[in-house]
Amino acid sequence: MRILGIETSCDETAAAVYDTEAGLLSNVIYSQIHTHQPYGGVVPELASRNHIKKIYPVVHQALDEAATKTGKLDAIAYTAGPGLMGALLVGASFAHGLGYSLNVPVLPTHHMEGHLLASLLTGNRHKPLHMLLQEVTFPFLALLVSGGHTQLFYVQKPGSYQLLGESLDDAAGEAFDKTARLLDLPYPGGPSIAKLAVGGDPQAFAFPRPMLHSGDLNFSFSGLKTSVLVRIEKLKQQQAWNAQSKRDVAASFQAAVTDTLYTKCLQAIKHYPARQLVVAGGVSANLVLRAKLMELQQKRDMMVRFPEMDLCTDNAAMIAFTGAIKHSKSKQATAHTFNTAQTIMAKPRWPLAEGCVEERVTDHRD
Ligand code: KG4
Ligand code: ZN
Repeated sequence: MRILGIETSCDETAAAVYDTEAGLLSNVIYSQIHTHQPYGGVVPELASRNHIKKIYPVVHQALDEAATKTGKLDAIAYTAGPGLMGALLVGASFAHGLGYSLNVPVLPTHHMEGHLLASLLTGNRHKPLHMLLQEVTFPFLALLVSGGHTQLFYVQKPGSYQLLGESLDDAAGEAFDKTARLLDLPYPGGPSIAKLAVGGDPQAFAFPRPMLHSGDLNFSFSGLKTSVLVRIEKLKQQQAWNAQSKRDVAASFQAAVTDTLYTKCLQAIKHYPARQLVVAGGVSANLVLRAKLMELQQKRDMMVRFPEMDLCTDNAAMIAFTGAIKHSKSKQATAHTFNTAQTIMAKPRWPLAEGCVEERVTDHRD
């Protein structure tokens, strides 16, 4: 089975082709970063307009690179949420239009589920899907860290996600982005801070590690950026705001986020029987975070899994792959799993929870 994936939830226009026998055949990403950089963040209207301009060439390129034709597609998966409404609608409309014209099922897919499952592709891009799934050890714990989400899940099987804890305010990626602005660094803040932090001392400033003793698995990152702001102002008053202290602030901030995420994962491991931790979302590209979480492999005998670098931030490979898992499941199930109402689905707010992504296939076939 061959699936085209389409991702347009934020500022990346992406398309990919995944084949359940041959694996990932193509993965094309057009990043709009340069459009949004002058504004210090994503401008929703500009994102939608850019998706409209780029969706056709990006899909075309993904099909070309996969050496496939639209007639060879068995289904189309698209990101139906969460994300920016206008941006989501571009991908959703394109997917449904193409699905209708090709007479193939269209699968609305959860963006965060895509991030989560992308790590299963690590080292397995070209393995047949049934073999890949046999090798995954369930249950596992999943830490999702992106620009909009910081969440811990207990995953019993694909489609079964128990939310254990989440950020009560800013997401980890959002904290990186907002702190980067305080440091006059360009958007997106995560990579900018990570780069600057290389020459800094992570122990120079003791920024707070919020909610470590809250007795639950929730997070809070909004106070952290306020601490950074207060520290910067103090350094300025002391005439000590210079290139080195800037690097030290970046490294100390990154250490605070990393320690917090590490400690919450450790707490989750103690309470839930899992031998594997999956880390996903844009912030999982952070090398300091990766190194810290890898300690769990030795200390706790946990297998720690990350997506490969090109699949950490937004991409359509994760959507095509998730669609393939869902579609192969629904094909085995009874006919009622097909929703024949041809509804375009775009849900800007859509919690990833138990069963929320089941049974939402739109079947355009006669
Ligand atoms: O998953 P993603 O591409 O989009 C969302 O679904 O939100 O995540 C984007 C977030 C941004 O906040 C960005 O600053 C952060 O991921 N990010 C990083 C790194 N690369 C991207 N944060 C820390 N270190 C990085 N290397
Ligand atoms: Zn994302």
